Amino acid sequence: MRVLFIGDIMGRTGRNAVFDLLPGLKDELRVDFCIANGENSSGGLGMSRKAYDELSRGGVDFFTMGNHTFSKKTICDLFRDGENIVRPANYAEPQPGDGMAVVRAGNGCKIAIINLIGRVFMNTGDKSPFECGKELVCRARESTPVVFVDFHAEATSEKEALGYYLDGLASAVIGTHTHVQTADERILPGGTAYMSDAGRTGAVHSVLGMDLEASVSRFLEADKKFPFKVAEGQYMLCGALIDIDENTGKAKEITRICRYGN
Ligand SMILES: [Fe+2]
Ligand SMILES: [Fe+2]
Repeated sequence: MRVLFIGDIMGRTGRNAVFDLLPGLKDELRVDFCIANGENSSGGLGMSRKAYDELSRGGVDFFTMGNHTFSKKTICDLFRDGENIVRPANYAEPQPGDGMAVVRAGNGCKIAIINLIGRVFMNTGDKSPFECGKELVCRARESTPVVFVDFHAEATSEKEALGYYLDGLASAVIGTHTHVQTADERILPGGTAYMSDAGRTGAVHSVLGMDLEASVSRFLEADKKFPFKVAEGQYMLCGALIDIDENTGKAKEITRICRYGN
């Protein structure tokens, strides 16, 4: 089973990258199931119904979120309507939505999708992604051996540690949140596909997908508020393709994906 994961989609520019590049990629890479991180898909903060519908029509089968899950309050409508979306499972307090889902891909195979959020440099006060993650992965494996984990976190140390902690249990542990793709994709000894960060899907010439002027000004004049704006222009789609043995749940191959368009 071939799963394409797309890193944080940044606003309209990121959505354009998906419409333009995803259909061709799905054909070329023979993708059975496409998951995308949607936490920045509406104006760079959160995900609206409009962005969900557009990206679903564009070919994304399932969405994960992150620290911006509730930046658009209407996200709760998507949770209420049982749409194909999960948010981090290890929030400190009970929140709307689920942190894990099991769905059937186009090829008939069941896949579990789990979303976790990190604690290092995140100031979230959330529960341990390690304990919560292991419990959820074990529960997911009662339904299917194919288990995908999006670990939304800042620190590469926390990401690698969780990858090895879940090695042999999850099919893939892929990081999001930094918006910069890492070149460390590999199969861990127990058969889990790992990559510290999938990277962003959005403007190439930007600071994490945001407009250059506002982003740079924030560092030059830290006392002033410069409203963030999603950057435009040449875009890229970043992520990873994971080939998973659907009988054992072990990853056979992981390939870093980065494609450009404008
Ligand atoms: Fe993000
Ligand atoms: Fe984030």
